[in-house]
Amino acid sequence: MEKRARFLLDTVDAMIAVNGPEFVAVKISPGWTFHNVYDTDPIATFTYVTKELSKRRIAYLQVGNYGMDWDVYGTLRPLFDGPFMVVAGFTRASAAAMVSAGGADLVAFGQVYISNPDLAERYRNGWPSIASTTTRSTSRARRGIRTILSIAIRRIRRRCCPAIPRRCRLWKQGMSDRIH
Ligand SMILES: Cc1cc2nc3c(=O)[nH]c(=O)nc-3n(C[C@H](O)[C@H](O)[C@H](O)COP(=O)(O)O)c2cc1C
Repeated sequence: MEKRARFLLDTVDAMIAVNGPEFVAVKISPGWTFHNVYDTDPIATFTYVTKELSKRRIAYLQVGNYGMDWDVYGTLRPLFDGPFMVVAGFTRASAAAMVSAGGADLVAFGQVYISNPDLAERYRNGWPSIASTTTRSTSRARRGIRTILSIAIRRIRRRCCPAIPRRCRLWKQGMSDRIH
């Protein structure tokens, strides 16, 4: 486990060495599978990492539960001695309930902020918020990125690698695979 967590903890330590722990925060994301990230033993991994981060007195720990079937927040919250922020799927009501119950000190919002840049004011004043348009905007963004990528690749191919078009194709395929 030490080896598994070393990259994160060494990075955090290096950042702490520059400005102190109060300027360093970490987000951990049990269940996140972006870029094919996968953990065979997430409870052991995130329990260890949370305890280690707690020792370092960082500014806060943000934790997202991305579809795990174990109580991510309930398990990790007692292990972290500092501000504990949760994220993923919260509404104004569920966030308020979470904080009131002591399950978190802070709640972060993602998608709903995209359609409500003034979300804090809306929530503070009890005004209605507009439903998230993330699906629409991210698919538009993906299409945009693909177009830009295709133009760039065409230019590169024309300029530097007409002799190795196959490699370019493979590279393009690899890049496309990374845009989810
Ligand atoms: C467009 C978009 C980009 C995101 N980028 C990141 C990111 O770079 N790193 C990260 O940890 N989470 C990222 N997230 C996930 C959010 O931090 C958040 O966990 C997720 O949106 C779930 O919270 P929500 O239900 O309030 O949206 C992103 C989410 C969206 C919609």
